[in-house]
Amino acid sequence: MDKALRRPVIAGNWKMNNTPEQTKALIDALKPLVADADCDVVVCTPYIDLYAALDAAAGSNIKVGAENCHWAAKGAFTGEVSAEMLKAIGVPYVIIGHSERRQYFGETDLTVRDRTRAAVDNGLKVILCVGEVLEERQLGITDEIVRKQTKVALDGIKEEELASIIIAYEPVWAIGTGLTATPAQANEVCAVIRALIAELYSKDAADHIVIQYGGSMNDGNAADLLAQYDVDGGLIGGASLVAEKFAKIVEAASK
Ligand code: PGA
Repeated sequence: MDKALRRPVIAGNWKMNNTPEQTKALIDALKPLVADADCDVVVCTPYIDLYAALDAAAGSNIKVGAENCHWAAKGAFTGEVSAEMLKAIGVPYVIIGHSERRQYFGETDLTVRDRTRAAVDNGLKVILCVGEVLEERQLGITDEIVRKQTKVALDGIKEEELASIIIAYEPVWAIGTGLTATPAQANEVCAVIRALIAELYSKDAADHIVIQYGGSMNDGNAADLLAQYDVDGGLIGGASLVAEKFAKIVEAASK
């Protein structure tokens, strides 16, 4: 099996940053820098910025994503946005299960599963986030935690639907902390996820699924992380807010 069978995906997770005006400026700055990328390039923005992002990215190789979506098509869910709504405005990607949603907004493995189902049903590509907190790593249960999160999220997803799923391994202790998993640590857990895909589906599915690493990936450490056999891309927070830094990560993934 050749790592080259999987096209890397570099996705920015802007979190709660940027106004529509700033969105346009950042994407305009990014466009020429990533025009020759030999990987998929995605920027995930706050809902309020999606129109500006779609507009600014039109005709370029930059794809746009949202940072969450609800499992229901519509209804009494104040403050939420459905997968159907994202589809309606032409947003192709969505992040689901980010640790900040799990940590601060009561997201559970089961709600992650339901949101994933709705996104796939609406033809969106899901960046499904899993990862252990520091205490879990210290207890030596990282593999179990990540396997459980992934298994529950994929409940009901058929093998032919896996083309719509990217898994992002994001150790929570490495997110926004400046602490990065070592390339070996990142690869080890991405390999555990790939083995689970083989177990749940098939060797072929495992060989093809894109598994990203996320957690303080930046222009300085990206090349080493992305060179790992089981790391097929990155989900980038802080460094995705600076066009030059994000572009350098895209460049590292294109080699
Ligand atoms: P970070 O965030 O790169 O700022 O650590 C990654 C993420 O939360 O997706």
